[in-house]
Amino acid sequence: MKKVLVKNIGMLATPVGKTAHRGEEQGKIKITKDAWVLMEDGVIAALGEGAAPEAADAERIDAGGCLVTPGLVDAHTHLIFGGWRQNELGLKLHGASYLDIQNAGGGIQSTTNATRGATEEELAAKAEKALNEMLRFGTTTCEAKSGYGLATEHELKALRVIRDLDERHPVDLVATFMGAHLVPAEYKQNREEYVRLVCEEMMPRVREQGIAKFCDVFCEADTFTVEESRRILEAGLKYGLRPKIHADEIEAIGGSQLAGELGAISAEHLIVCPKEGIESMAKGGTIACLLPATSFNLGAVFAPARDMVNAGVPVAMATDFNPGSCPCLNMQFVINLGCLKYKLTPEEVLTAVTLNAAAAIDRADRVGSVEPGKLGDLVIWDAPDLDYICYRVGSNLAKTVIKKGAVV
Ligand code: NIG
Ligand code: FE
Repeated sequence: MKKVLVKNIGMLATPVGKTAHRGEEQGKIKITKDAWVLMEDGVIAALGEGAAPEAADAERIDAGGCLVTPGLVDAHTHLIFGGWRQNELGLKLHGASYLDIQNAGGGIQSTTNATRGATEEELAAKAEKALNEMLRFGTTTCEAKSGYGLATEHELKALRVIRDLDERHPVDLVATFMGAHLVPAEYKQNREEYVRLVCEEMMPRVREQGIAKFCDVFCEADTFTVEESRRILEAGLKYGLRPKIHADEIEAIGGSQLAGELGAISAEHLIVCPKEGIESMAKGGTIACLLPATSFNLGAVFAPARDMVNAGVPVAMATDFNPGSCPCLNMQFVINLGCLKYKLTPEEVLTAVTLNAAAAIDRADRVGSVEPGKLGDLVIWDAPDLDYICYRVGSNLAKTVIKKGAVV
């Protein structure tokens, strides 16, 4: 049995439990000063306060009196894509909006062209580079969506890349099928046919190959309507794919209401989420997966996170890493924005990027907190306490990242 002991932890900060925390619970975390954590075969076996156990047969890691938290969970990324879109920066600076660029054939369609043109190996190499960087910033589990293939063969190609990377990269990946990211150019005059293709051709293949857990749809003006989104997510359920939804990112057309109605596991973005949407999500048990780095990049307002917490909606936060609306994969920046822009407390933010994020991808039984039985995923920070990592901006404060009990 491989034993690893992390000792001399100045502050161990973690939420506790296997389900998402909402309301006041979101801000209740366990803080242990002068702590230790023992892992056996990649799983947390014990933890405590004060003098660390002898454990003579264990590898010992000295945390140097620093902060330790669970590994960060990035519950929303568009990890698999060809090319980048730095050319859109100039357009944005000259006043073009996200939807202007998309409607002019840029945006998701241009990344789709690049993704279709890339081989599986090329996509994997590019995503692997991003995963390496994420790991260095403290992310140990990551959701990854397809959605830049928009044709059966290319959507399956992206999902295979996710499966293969999950097998060989230390970061654990959870796959989401997002064939409904945009109606691709060749179906613009026949969107009905594209929705049919997603539901009747892509989904059965995704199911057959068992390569995705969730189904996501971009419910937005000029993208997929509420009714199309409903059809797609209900079809996903038939194929064992739990619903997620990009809702209220730019215009509130009813996506968050739909999320609650369907009992979606999470609704994403929610930048302009109305009161009715918050109520619907609270009722449906939907987790709000907020993406503040996207608001930052779009120059948009920030989601009403405080109203969501107050209404009893569990709030998770993620990067939304993608080549368009958010070319940022750094969860530490998300932590900063969670405090500075959402006005959440450091404790609420920690829950959002660990336990609630894990729950948003149905992994809260395995990751998202430091407690016996969960995976040995930890970050040792170059920081004395939790406030410090929320307040320092722009540095990488992750000193040592531990995945399944091993330093990575
Ligand atoms: O979550 N909104 C839809 N999808 C991504 C953006 C994708 C892109 O711009 O390429 C998002 O923001
Ligand atoms: Fe997204």
